[in-house]
Amino acid sequence: MGRIPQSFINDLLGRIDVVDVVDARLTLKKAGKEYRALCPFHNEKTPSFWVSPEKQFYHCFGCGASGTALTFLMEFDRMEFVEAVETLAAMAGVEVPREDSGRPHQDHGDLYGVMAQAERYFRRSLKESPAAVAYLKKRGLSGEVARDFGIGFAPDSWDGLKTSLDSVPEAKLLEAGLLTRAESGRVYDRFRGRVMFPIRDTRGRIIGFGGRLTGSDGDGPKYLNSPETPLFHKGRELYGLYEARRALRKLEALIVVEGYMDVVALAQAGIANAVATLGTSATPEHFQKLFRYAGEVVCCFDGDNAGRQAAWRALESALPHLGEGRQLKFMFLPEGEDPDSLVRARGKGAFLALADAAEPAIEYLFNRLKLGLDLGNLDHRARLANLAAPMIEKVPDGILRELMGRRLEELTGFSGASVRQSGASVRRSRAGGVDPAIPSRPLAAPRLSALSRRLLARLLQNPRVVLCVPPDTRQALLEQADSDLFLQIVKYLDENPEADTAAILGRWSGTAEHGVLLGLLNGAPRLSEEGLQGEFAEGVAQYLEQRHRAERRRRLARVQQEPTREEFLAYWALRSNGADPERG
Ligand code: UTP
Ligand code: MN
Repeated sequence: MGRIPQSFINDLLGRIDVVDVVDARLTLKKAGKEYRALCPFHNEKTPSFWVSPEKQFYHCFGCGASGTALTFLMEFDRMEFVEAVETLAAMAGVEVPREDSGRPHQDHGDLYGVMAQAERYFRRSLKESPAAVAYLKKRGLSGEVARDFGIGFAPDSWDGLKTSLDSVPEAKLLEAGLLTRAESGRVYDRFRGRVMFPIRDTRGRIIGFGGRLTGSDGDGPKYLNSPETPLFHKGRELYGLYEARRALRKLEALIVVEGYMDVVALAQAGIANAVATLGTSATPEHFQKLFRYAGEVVCCFDGDNAGRQAAWRALESALPHLGEGRQLKFMFLPEGEDPDSLVRARGKGAFLALADAAEPAIEYLFNRLKLGLDLGNLDHRARLANLAAPMIEKVPDGILRELMGRRLEELTGFSGASVRQSGASVRRSRAGGVDPAIPSRPLAAPRLSALSRRLLARLLQNPRVVLCVPPDTRQALLEQADSDLFLQIVKYLDENPEADTAAILGRWSGTAEHGVLLGLLNGAPRLSEEGLQGEFAEGVAQYLEQRHRAERRRRLARVQQEPTREEFLAYWALRSNGADPERG
């Protein structure tokens, strides 16, 4: 399906009144030009949640929640982005356009219908297959859990589904991934002789299936998943998420496991908050989704080497989505066990005890990196700093990232910032060779400069102001390498020239920067158009000048402070001889 054009979203936010959206869900009281209510995102007795019709956003002074009509639907109704856009579009009475992605424009409504029909067929077939029922019994599943998850059975037949769904055009069944075409051209049922697990999206619609062989002698892999279809994208979906949300009113934590049977067996044991990735390691998209529904995510891994590797991959995917109010933990199972076998052999309590003892992923990160290093050794400390700094940098700017930086500094004496400053050498040293990242003076993590803040405030008052700077100056801004928030927004505006303030807030909603932006929007005095343009242009010139100066200083400092390879080796030799080079 094509992307929804940004210009449409901006338009839509212009047509919708955030007050209507919030008012339909909370009790709003008028207070001057604005409205207030008890905040739905945290517990409070006196209202600190404000909705501004003029600025078209809401903000809670208690917990910091804030955003537009779009983010409100995503946070309050827990809608996916597309779902929220569709809901607003329906309110405004407009169609959601899609950017042409090369494929013909189509409506998937009928594919969902086909998947639902297939599920009914599989469930009917399960009732008619005593052997399949016996298999599920043997695996400890009750009829109730099988029903909750819509588990079914695909008979061992080449055309059972094809015959049963003969009113559906063959092309649709192929598109839905329910039939396959052999090289010979023959078309037949994809799933044969398998217990079928329907995979649902967060709205409960069936988008795919996973099928497990019931015998050990069937053909194909043990588990067969739906192929990628217009409805089903493996790297994005989480098996059991819909069922977990339905079973529990409030999801405090989600447990991520590997397999279908793990999710179902945990539910059977009374642990309803488990979800599974579908045979892949957890992707950044998975984490984005997981943290939308729960503040705590516990990933469950095998206690063996493969499990530790999977944990490391998961950690790398998760870092960009960590932050305040988002806790990631890792739990490791005894070797040879999976959640299904463990909970069946040792019970719910044993599994929960392991989950309670899960290690915060950030601690895991440092502990793993430290492994085999001697922190009394300068070279080892530098190595740790070089390994950790790029990972810390993936974490969004905020308290968590700062804490990680401090932890690194405690361990190594190198601040994240000093490693970052010698960025080029970090890269060189990872490619092998002596590590020249001797600490310069430790720096605090970079904050927004006063100038950046001022420029941001002007941009937020009117994003068009960026058009007032000469094209070559704008180009110079776009070419700056790093990612100061001001530059990020200039780049975003370059790609989305129609974006207005609400769109900017929408784009950064859910990130640590969002609060900063709101603070600037609310806090800065509003200028006249003319004043705005003049100040902005001047500010940008100053900004570029500051950057050039800083860059020159950095280069100089690098030349002066960084020891040459020879100096480093001499330093190193002194240390290993027991002398303290610091004392000369
Ligand atoms: P496992 O092989 O660990 O199986 O695969 P399991 O979950 O313990 O299943 P049982 O207990 O033998 O029934 C874990 C997950 O990896 C994916 C599936 O999503 C499975 O649930 N997988 C595995 C496949 O997609 N294909 C396969 O052939 C095997
Ligand atoms: Mn298993």
